[in-house]
Amino acid sequence: MSPSPLAIAVQDLVFQWPARNQAGFRLSIPRFEVERGERVFLQGASGSGKSTLLSLLGGVLRPQPCRLRVLDTDLTALSSSDRDRFRVDHVGFLFQQFNLVPYLSVRENVLLPCRFSRHRRRQALQSASSLQQAADRLLQRLGLDGSLARQPVTALSVGQQQRIAAARALIGHPELIIADEPTSALDADRQGEFLDLLLERCADDRVTLVFVSHDQRLESRFTRSVRLDDLCATTPC
Ligand SMILES: Nc1ncnc2c1ncn2[C@@H]1O[C@H](COP(=O)(O)OP(=O)(O)O)[C@@H](O)[C@H]1O
Ligand SMILES: [Mg+2]
Repeated sequence: MSPSPLAIAVQDLVFQWPARNQAGFRLSIPRFEVERGERVFLQGASGSGKSTLLSLLGGVLRPQPCRLRVLDTDLTALSSSDRDRFRVDHVGFLFQQFNLVPYLSVRENVLLPCRFSRHRRRQALQSASSLQQAADRLLQRLGLDGSLARQPVTALSVGQQQRIAAARALIGHPELIIADEPTSALDADRQGEFLDLLLERCADDRVTLVFVSHDQRLESRFTRSVRLDDLCATTPC
């Protein structure tokens, strides 16, 4: 069977956080579809549920019974450990705070997904003769000098650290990249530069990108822009 042209197909998705103070937050999305290769800009007010939606799409959280297919996989049918496996094999995550491992070198950080996923390791080795070479090439394509590969990540600037996080998300060709405000910690010049590199890599590899930001200036660079408010049901299901 040929793969569906949709990377993401969501129908009647409902997720309810347990209450912290008063009523718990409820996210309710009747329909949301993203085609393979689309680069989607997702915006919404703080607290509107953007990070919650990204966690659902990446299989970190599980919704109430609904249709939630990501890369032809029914995420609602998977156990928590199968969702972890799905994520490490097929999804690259990028966060505002990078989440790099401080005691590992630059290259070791980039190669983390290959340590946990045979699938990513195999994919990385399709276009390189060693994992080291795959990591170093990717770093280079993201504008980082190869001499940095063995340095501790903590020795590098914020802009450099975010590129390392991008290389880690991209290594082994995951089909989907999920980015949660990854430019928020960068200054304006670095934001544009970083976004150019990320979008270029995604376009080259036909990666689907869902990118959350509250910075409207970035919107025009994407193939589609979506407001979370417009996706959400006005009356709770
Ligand atoms: N771990 C959690 N437990 C309970 N409620 C949470 C949790 N994480 C987020 N929420 C609630 O879910 C709502 C949406 O949060 P979030 O998805 O982080 O929004 P955004 O990313 O758009 O700022 C908020 O009201 C927040 O308080
Ligand atoms: Mg958030």
